Amino acid sequence: MLSLKAKLKDGTEVEILDSPEKIPVREYLEYINAMMEEGAWLTHKRKSTMKEEKFWKRDVISKIKRGRMIYLGAVRGGKVAGASSAEKGVGRNENNVCIGIAISGKFRGNGLGELLMRRTIAVAKEKFRPKNIFLTVAEPNKAAWKLYEKVGFRKIARFPDWIEKDGKYYAQLWMVLK
Ligand SMILES: CC(C)(COP(=O)(O)OP(=O)(O)OC[C@H]1O[C@@H](n2cnc3c(N)ncnc32)[C@H](O)[C@@H]1OP(=O)(O)O)[C@@H](O)C(=O)NCCC(=O)NCCS
Repeated sequence: MLSLKAKLKDGTEVEILDSPEKIPVREYLEYINAMMEEGAWLTHKRKSTMKEEKFWKRDVISKIKRGRMIYLGAVRGGKVAGASSAEKGVGRNENNVCIGIAISGKFRGNGLGELLMRRTIAVAKEKFRPKNIFLTVAEPNKAAWKLYEKVGFRKIARFPDWIEKDGKYYAQLWMVLK
């Protein structure tokens, strides 16, 4: 298992792991549920249970072992500071790789998102040699699409009235790495 240290803009050191194996499920639960509480623009919609999170962790480990997924988790003082992933599609989509990322509230604006994105892209290119690296993002989530533009993604499609949040519909942007 890979483990490397990285320094954020303010000098904070984080450890980056390429599997969730060593990170306790309760830490993932705290990380994801804090984001649900703040109403983050994730596809995930409600708080998870311990059982769901255990299942999620097992599923990620299995996908990594089967060569279908790349995962990077950033940890600081035992807490999950952020995580990113790149997952191959299936069948005729197998060379299209989808990226996802989420940084914990107090670690935002400190370069961690950019660091994880750039590393995930580099590893995905090397490991999967994909045709396309893409992602989707809710249009109001400007912090996210600004980050994606910064690392080389460009908007290729806009699906109006696509993402539901608190009873309202918002556009979803599809972006591809150019
Ligand atoms: C979007 C997210 C991943 C950004 O991570 P981050 O660690 O805060 O980003 P960084 O500090 O590395 O910033 C990198 C770039 O992103 C953009 N960015 C980050 N935060 C921004 C903000 N609040 N407003 C506008 N642009 C922003 C900027 O281009 C920034 O570059 P700059 O510092 O040169 O201006 C983070 O806010 C997050 O996880 N949000 C909640 C979950 C989420 O929305 N995930 C994405 C779902 S599609």
